Amino acid sequence: MLSLSIPRVALRAAAPSRQLAAAAGASSVRFASTKSLKDAVAEIVPEKQEQLKKLKADYADASLGEIKVSNLLGGMRGLKVMLWEGSVLDSETGITFHGKSIPDSQKVLPTGNDIGVKGSEILPESMLWLLLTGKVPTAEEVKGLSQELAAKGKLPSYLEKIIDSFPKTLHPMTQFANAVASLNHDSKFAAAYSKGIKKTEYWQPTLDDSIDLIAKLPAIAARIYYNVFGRGDGNQAIDSGLDLIGNYSKMIGYGDNEGMTDYLRLYIAIHGDHEGGNVSAHTAHLVGSALSDPYLSYSAALLGLAGPLHGLANQEVLGWALSMQEAVGENASDEQIKEYLWKTLKSGRVVPGYGHAVLRQPDPRFTALSKFCDTRPELRDSSIVQLVQKVSQIAPGVLTEHGKTKNPFPNVDAASGCVLYQYGLKEFTYYTVIFGISRAIGALPQLVADRYLGMPIERPKSMSMNALEALLKK
Ligand SMILES: CC(C)(COP(=O)(O)OP(=O)(O)OC[C@H]1O[C@@H](n2cnc3c(N)ncnc32)[C@H](O)[C@@H]1OP(=O)(O)O)[C@@H](O)C(=O)NCCC(=O)NCCS
Repeated sequence: MLSLSIPRVALRAAAPSRQLAAAAGASSVRFASTKSLKDAVAEIVPEKQEQLKKLKADYADASLGEIKVSNLLGGMRGLKVMLWEGSVLDSETGITFHGKSIPDSQKVLPTGNDIGVKGSEILPESMLWLLLTGKVPTAEEVKGLSQELAAKGKLPSYLEKIIDSFPKTLHPMTQFANAVASLNHDSKFAAAYSKGIKKTEYWQPTLDDSIDLIAKLPAIAARIYYNVFGRGDGNQAIDSGLDLIGNYSKMIGYGDNEGMTDYLRLYIAIHGDHEGGNVSAHTAHLVGSALSDPYLSYSAALLGLAGPLHGLANQEVLGWALSMQEAVGENASDEQIKEYLWKTLKSGRVVPGYGHAVLRQPDPRFTALSKFCDTRPELRDSSIVQLVQKVSQIAPGVLTEHGKTKNPFPNVDAASGCVLYQYGLKEFTYYTVIFGISRAIGALPQLVADRYLGMPIERPKSMSMNALEALLKK
């Protein structure tokens, strides 16, 4: 298994809890008082505020490069115009979370086994802690956060009624975004703002709302799954001894499937943040800059995630791969796969799961998910997983020959759906909802940072083509 090959230096932090867990039994682990996530954020706020103050004082007029017409006409690619604390995406080496690559994160972040639930992949709670504080949490801290999330995970009855009122034919992402926006009914930030809370304190109810929202996302997503597809635990019962995704997996009917549960943890942890400029993260930040509360801001992010060039791609990839499998059969030759790729391209469509706006190498998230597949016999032997992996070897050559995309390599969406499919979660229109649970653990921490840094409302300058011509022809 992948986890066995990873040297777990995290155990510096996690070992005591392992022993405790073993001694106490998985579901009855209790730890002496440990730092809460809110305490950990409060600790870093003064130094972050000081860092921003110094940057403004010392470098306010320093240039970060020129703006070209191609930037304005090309979706603002490459322009350094956003502050984002949690992660950085390098075009060659991929994503790092506070400086840690995915393999680095797998070495140091606590897993299920570290907190007394079965599983050797990163817990999304661990990633959330890292993204919010820049620090690797101890297993005890993650366990405490898991318990806090379980305690806050139940949906209010008004929200259950709202979700139940959606027609089954409404796309699951539209339902998800609507449900998240409705929780603004209970926003602590909105309530505090209307009472006149001081600007310096904005971050606190923003963090409270963010934790409440992250806690409730699994139950919202599971209720939508149950209503639309009739699968899973109809009442979204929460087990206080389970982690966030252990509970989610149970709610959607996979509680006894260790492989699927651990895959969901890995998938959700590594999809959490992809720096700030992607549509969902940027949207949460933009809407939040108007001081909309975390529910409204994240609901808007989900609507961006629902676009086919962004999160919806993982729904598209699988449909495309299955059509290919139907067309070329289970043991397709390289030549047949090439032909199918060309057929897709010649029909004017993109090859879903390939290309990226920033990356110029295979996506390390794709690599991490592929490695997960290599370590599990049930995935390694799956014909659809094998086909997807074979395509990932052949498509870069075809896309290079085609000559349009700047990055012919697979992105994360090329791998994510086939694993869900193999584990029996075959409802494609639901796949982006799982991505939507994940992106909250990256977008909401930045919203908290925006508030403790006192970031202003976002308001770039736009230009018409006439104004542009007038300026350029001067
Ligand atoms: C991700 C994506 C939206 C990035 O877009 P981008 O930054 O504009 O990408 P590029 O600069 O490389 O695009 C240049 C050209 O290559 C094309 N191209 C990019 N990826 C392609 C792909 N996978 N298949 C075919 N053509 C592709 C673009 O459509 C564009 O064509 P155009 O000049 O006719 O408009 C794009 O690669 C894509 O559509 N991929 C498929 C969908 C997908 O997997 N999305 C998930 C992303 S994580």
